[in-house]
Amino acid sequence: MLKAGLVPGAAPVADPILASRHWGLDFPNPLGLAAGFDKNGEVPDAMLGQGFGFVEIGSVTPLPQPGNAKPRLFRLGADQAVINRMGFNNHGLDYAAGRLVRRKKQGVVGANLGKNKDSADAVADYAAGVTRLGPLADYLVINISSPNTPGLRALQGREPLRALIGGVAEALAKLPRPKPLLLKIAPDLTAEDRADIAEVALDSPLSGLIVSNTTIERPTSLTSAHKTETGGLSGQPLFAPSTALLADMYRLTEGRLTLIGVGGISSAEQAYAKIRAGASLLQLYSALVYGGPALVGRINRGLAALLRRDGFANISEAVGK
Ligand SMILES: Cc1cc2nc3c(=O)[nH]c(=O)nc-3n(C[C@H](O)[C@H](O)[C@H](O)COP(=O)(O)O)c2cc1C
Repeated sequence: MLKAGLVPGAAPVADPILASRHWGLDFPNPLGLAAGFDKNGEVPDAMLGQGFGFVEIGSVTPLPQPGNAKPRLFRLGADQAVINRMGFNNHGLDYAAGRLVRRKKQGVVGANLGKNKDSADAVADYAAGVTRLGPLADYLVINISSPNTPGLRALQGREPLRALIGGVAEALAKLPRPKPLLLKIAPDLTAEDRADIAEVALDSPLSGLIVSNTTIERPTSLTSAHKTETGGLSGQPLFAPSTALLADMYRLTEGRLTLIGVGGISSAEQAYAKIRAGASLLQLYSALVYGGPALVGRINRGLAALLRRDGFANISEAVGK
């Protein structure tokens, strides 16, 4: 429906209190669409038209791949959550590049990069993504936090991460125009992992962190029948752990990186909590399943009201407070 232009757009919330600028890009509001919804870059403009302040496509892997066998996506309705083990199903870099090149280029669109399941060289896969989509996207994301590609999350370790960022930085430096590079991390990280990532990130060309991907933890509060399915859990139960990680990463990086807060946002209060924990920008996905696109305007309007209530003149003033 979105692809065919059959979904009516929503008037964007154009409130200057929500507007901010990062990496030379203007964000009319802080709420973005998280990766995984538009894996192939087919509807970024249609989703910007739903009122999102920015859209992230992907994850895109160098070669097309089918992902895991179905069923691979489960609703946990009573828990307002989702479990997925999609496994980077996507049409590959050439297809996504073909879609992005056709865009009318209004609004911020980032590209989230993955590696092929059977690739022997992760660094080469991410570098290929930077080279192919870098010229077409406004920012790039190295996603090493999906639980559904074997071995992927091990790249978050100190030395693998250093090597990965080093390799990707070479591809980044060769782009015709420099593009911001972000790293998307998992919520299931030890205190040592967190400190290592912060240290490596601050000593690298990274411009920001996306905190966080889905969790492999299963909180005891879950009640839905599908709670034991393998995969990454997102939605409401992810809010508290992903926000705690966000606050940790904000402290550990001393506010020197731009953080995107994602995980369980479904209300203006939760969006505001992420901002105060250290996020400059936000993303959501799972809440759309239960709330529909009307959620986007509702969260933005509510967030503006909360900022005014607390005496902030602009969203940037509330970051990390
Ligand atoms: C069905 C589904 C597919 C996803 N695919 C990706 C992906 O390809 N790459 C990625 O970085 N994150 C992916 N995610 C994770 C989301 O981008 C987001 O980090 C996570 O769902 C937490 O946000 P939420 O609670 O608002 O959904 C996916 C999530 C879902 C539910």
